[in-house]
Amino acid sequence: MEQITMVLLHTHLMLGVASSLVIQSMPWRVPCPLQCICQIKPWYSPQSVYREAPTVDCNDLLLIQLPTSLPSETQTLRLQSNLISSVDQTELQGLVNLTELDLSHNSFTSTRNLRITDLAALLSLHMEENQLRHLPEIAFFGLPSLQELYLNHNRLRSISPGAFKGLDKLLRLHLNSNRLVLIDRRWFHALPQLEVLMIGGNPVDTIQDLNFRPLGSLRSLVLAGMGLREISERALEGLQNLESISFYDNHLLRVPKEALQKLPGLKFLDLNKNPIQLVQKGDFRNMLHLKELGLNNMEALISIEHSAMENLPELTKLEITNNPRLSYIHPQAFQKLSSMESLMLNSNALSALHRQTIKSLPSLQEISLHSNPIRCDCLIRWVGADNDKPVRFIEPQSTFCSEPPELKARRVKEVSFREMADSCLPLIAPSTFPSYIEVKHGENVALHCRALAEPEPSIYWVIPQGVRLTPSSSYGRYQVLKEGTLEILGVTNEQTGLYTCVAQNLVGADTRSLNLQLVGSGTVHSSTQKTEESFDVQDVKERYAILTWHASRNVPTAHLSWVANGSLDGYHRRSTRILAGTRRFNLTHLQPGTQYKVCLHIESNNTSCVHLTTKKVTMTDPLPDLTPAVLLAVSVLLLLLAARACHGGASFLWRDHMSELEKPQTNILTKEAKPFMVPHIAAKDLIQQNPDKVLSDGRGKDLRNTSLGQDAQGLTSEAC
Ligand SMILES: *[C@@H]1O[C@H](CO)[C@@H](O)[C@H](O)[C@H]1NC(C)=O
Ligand SMILES: *[C@@H]1O[C@H](CO)[C@@H](O)[C@H](O)[C@H]1NC(C)=O
Ligand SMILES: *[C@@H]1O[C@H](CO)[C@@H](O)[C@H](O)[C@H]1NC(C)=O
Ligand SMILES: *[C@@H]1O[C@H](CO)[C@@H](O)[C@H](O)[C@H]1NC(C)=O
Ligand SMILES: *[C@@H]1O[C@H](CO)[C@@H](O)[C@H](O)[C@H]1NC(C)=O
Ligand SMILES: *[C@@H]1O[C@H](CO)[C@@H](O)[C@H](O)[C@H]1NC(C)=O
Repeated sequence: MEQITMVLLHTHLMLGVASSLVIQSMPWRVPCPLQCICQIKPWYSPQSVYREAPTVDCNDLLLIQLPTSLPSETQTLRLQSNLISSVDQTELQGLVNLTELDLSHNSFTSTRNLRITDLAALLSLHMEENQLRHLPEIAFFGLPSLQELYLNHNRLRSISPGAFKGLDKLLRLHLNSNRLVLIDRRWFHALPQLEVLMIGGNPVDTIQDLNFRPLGSLRSLVLAGMGLREISERALEGLQNLESISFYDNHLLRVPKEALQKLPGLKFLDLNKNPIQLVQKGDFRNMLHLKELGLNNMEALISIEHSAMENLPELTKLEITNNPRLSYIHPQAFQKLSSMESLMLNSNALSALHRQTIKSLPSLQEISLHSNPIRCDCLIRWVGADNDKPVRFIEPQSTFCSEPPELKARRVKEVSFREMADSCLPLIAPSTFPSYIEVKHGENVALHCRALAEPEPSIYWVIPQGVRLTPSSSYGRYQVLKEGTLEILGVTNEQTGLYTCVAQNLVGADTRSLNLQLVGSGTVHSSTQKTEESFDVQDVKERYAILTWHASRNVPTAHLSWVANGSLDGYHRRSTRILAGTRRFNLTHLQPGTQYKVCLHIESNNTSCVHLTTKKVTMTDPLPDLTPAVLLAVSVLLLLLAARACHGGASFLWRDHMSELEKPQTNILTKEAKPFMVPHIAAKDLIQQNPDKVLSDGRGKDLRNTSLGQDAQGLTSEAC
């Protein structure tokens, strides 16, 4: 098991096992036991005091008992990887200065065979990798000075409440990788000075309230690889001096925020490899001494939400890496992180990081973003901007753009500010939810939909019945939360079918659908409900018509097409995509006194059409009789004015008018065909002059297929 985690490393350094100092061994001229090696070797006490220790090394010798005639000056006795199953005090007689005894990887089955009556100087006892099954009362006798006890990788299933009695100087206890199913608070009454407890790798699934209460001196606690599902509010109470805790590789579904609030001195927190889906508002709040936080290797993590980290004044390093589904960090996820210097976000599914996120970190010095599918459009624009305090990129050489197509494989750092637009389409990452899920009858389901864009997009859901649900609303068994999560309370047959999330802003929209079925419902039937759909004209004016469509199911892909005066020429046909959940359209830019055939195309094989005739122009609203040339000039002028008035000339052409159901809808535009009205020629020409602002949606698709456009006239009347 990969247990070298950030925290472990820190623990290591913190407690000063200074293994980096290489000091040569020196000869020690004594009569040495057969096959063993006797040398003076560097040695560090558990409290990092350095000594030159006379060492007898008898590792790997297939010994079944201790060698005889050990030199009396021996301080370190190494008997690793032998076949020893018992030790008697008589075999160690006279070793008054023995400080470390290493019996790891031997054949002990019981501590009863450790017949020691007095090793007053022993500080460190290694019993790891033996076959101990149980620790009886007072399992370690005659070791009044012991500071370190290694019992990891045994087969311990049970430990008596008083097993550690007599070890009141113990500082470090390693019990990891055993078979313990519970942690008994009574063990710890004998260990008032304990600083480090490693108890991970045991099949413990619950920490009881006040489980560690006697350990008021504990500084580091490792609870890695244990099957913990949740940590109750009072589980960690009493650990007043704890600085480092690891929950690496457990089954935690959410951040144990209440329990963590009981650790006033916490500096290092490792939550790596837990199935947490969302890091939510308030999950990390007011942890005044937290310095480093790890949220790595989380298969389920999707989103870091608004105010997920708030008021962590000493946090300097945040690692959120190797989370294959993490596609969203809310622009305001980080609040009051005044010391944050290092932000590691590599190897996620992030398409961007909002400039506000960067702005909210005043001390940020370095950032790692490589191995993410970064879209080099507006959201990452801050990279090229003249920032007051430049942020260093870690591995800039391997931080590439994946989108849009024309910038693909360019290095993010090398794309200039000018090459990026200042607004961009929403993008719902493919990893946010799968396209098909099966759930059990009665189960609750939460579908998380998040999208980054500039301006910030709004999100809504369309359920199988075709009903559109906006955030902070509920309907029957459905509830849409503020951030865009759809909750279904108790799935029945009625809740099966197609769900679509739509994220949209002024620039356009993105949609993503999911088919939900019940487990064992056999074939995947795509909504067998009776469909009652009707497509109708509600109102016709001179230049626009209101069309309605009542659908009793969710139709994620639909198109509207229209053609004037019975033209058979496909060239004159115009069409637009209809977003899921739309019931009403305002078809604008029609010619007065003209007959139109308007068709709704559902799923490429079902088309229903209506005919309508726009009203003739009345005398109070005369249409100026302009020649096409004059009209072209006028519309171009209007366009330019509009552009200036709106966004200083950039990215104004695409706009989606389907934001609210109640609002009349305006949506126009074009196929690739040559438009039949003069203003459309102007609009199209203009589009082609600004290809990277308009035509790329960051996903390599033609924008006209995915968003709803707006032409020149629509812009002058609507966009500003
Ligand atoms: C044990 O250590 C003490 C203090 O370093 C020393 O004086 C004494 O000689 C040592 N005893 C033996 C048997 O080496
Ligand atoms: C096709 O769509 C129309 C109108 O939306 C609807 O009335 C009809 O039932 C649909 N037909 C099929 C075969 O889905
Ligand atoms: C359609 O025909 C009418 C009557 O002939 C005409 O006034 C109108 O301009 C035509 N519209 C288009 C778009 O061709
Ligand atoms: C229409 O096409 C969809 C898939 O695009 C298919 O599931 C459906 O059965 C088709 N309906 C008809 C009436 O052909
Ligand atoms: C439809 O759009 C036109 C042009 O944008 C607008 O003037 C009209 O008020 C809209 N109709 C409704 C019912 O909102
Ligand atoms: C866009 O739509 C056109 C026609 O509807 C189609 O031929 C083309 O393949 C589509 N492009 C993309 C990228 O989906």
